[in-house]
Amino acid sequence: MNHSFLGKYQIYTKDLTYFPLDWSTIFSNNNKLIVEIGFGGGEFLIGLAKKHPEYNFIGIETSLTSCYKIQKKIHVNNLSNIRIILEDARFAIREFFFDDSIYKIIVNFPCPWPKKKHSKKRLFSEDFIDTLSGVLETNGEVFLTTDVKLYAEEVRENFLNNGCFEVTPLKTDFEIPIKTRYEAKWEAQGRSEFFLISRKKCKKPIRRLLEGENTLSHKKIKTVNLSKLKSLQNFKYKQEEKVFFISDIYSNCNSPETNYLLKVFSDDAGFSQSFLVDVSKRHDGWIIKLDDIAKAYRTPAVKEAINKIAEELESNG
Ligand SMILES: C[S@@+](CC[C@H](N)C(=O)[O-])C[C@H]1O[C@@H](n2cnc3c(N)ncnc32)[C@H](O)[C@@H]1O
Repeated sequence: MNHSFLGKYQIYTKDLTYFPLDWSTIFSNNNKLIVEIGFGGGEFLIGLAKKHPEYNFIGIETSLTSCYKIQKKIHVNNLSNIRIILEDARFAIREFFFDDSIYKIIVNFPCPWPKKKHSKKRLFSEDFIDTLSGVLETNGEVFLTTDVKLYAEEVRENFLNNGCFEVTPLKTDFEIPIKTRYEAKWEAQGRSEFFLISRKKCKKPIRRLLEGENTLSHKKIKTVNLSKLKSLQNFKYKQEEKVFFISDIYSNCNSPETNYLLKVFSDDAGFSQSFLVDVSKRHDGWIIKLDDIAKAYRTPAVKEAINKIAEELESNG
């Protein structure tokens, strides 16, 4: 198959330097935005985008395979009104959308994560519902369909507790207009469906990690204390909500003593990333920078990691 379509519909958000995103430039029009979270096989998103060329559709998924497969379908159907983001929707909705900018959000059969030990993975947390109240237009709606009654009840309760949403009672006689893979699966097992609409009436402030211009310049230092560099393995840093940990240090077998990669795990108020920091000798000193291949968002913790590593390497202590 010709793969010329790859990269045409997916937004590579880690390459971008300005947040939230300007969707009217991306789509070249000002049509209203409809977002589907966890589009899976993509049947619903593709079907809706075909039916409604007057809206712009954005699909957010954590599965690379789903993102790859849907791009083929967008291409085959020649749709210009869909874009795809590979990211956790809890981060993506907060960082990539301006306040009051989304018309509708659709979530079909999300993972309910029923076990208590997995509760942090649930989509509709208190924080996420605060975010939804910010990014939805006034009267904008969240549509949820699920096969798990307890989950639907819990989500309904969470929206009501937020105080910014009008919420419908749970409906059971509803059928979503385009059958999704999971809907077909649950139907075949004779399970019921529960449907809920939450309509935004007011909003809570959003605290974003990436707002505005988001670049990260290289750090240049004159010399590197190599024994200090090697001792940075297991280095832990925490300042308020900025946390990072250096788990490994690798040297380049082709240029030992002049090129290192540090494997770093970071956390910004619960948002975790892992990335590499490149430490390389140049003719006039050393460069410390975020590695270009293993990409990361330039969050406050990532910026702090680059600065702190440069500071540590430059010191004699
Ligand atoms: C049970 S499947 C449902 C797929 C599809 N909506 C359907 O009805 O067939 C849940 C989907 O949500 C995706 N997902 C789970 N957590 C997510 C998150 N935090 N952000 C975006 N997608 C997520 C999963 O990768 C999976 O494809």
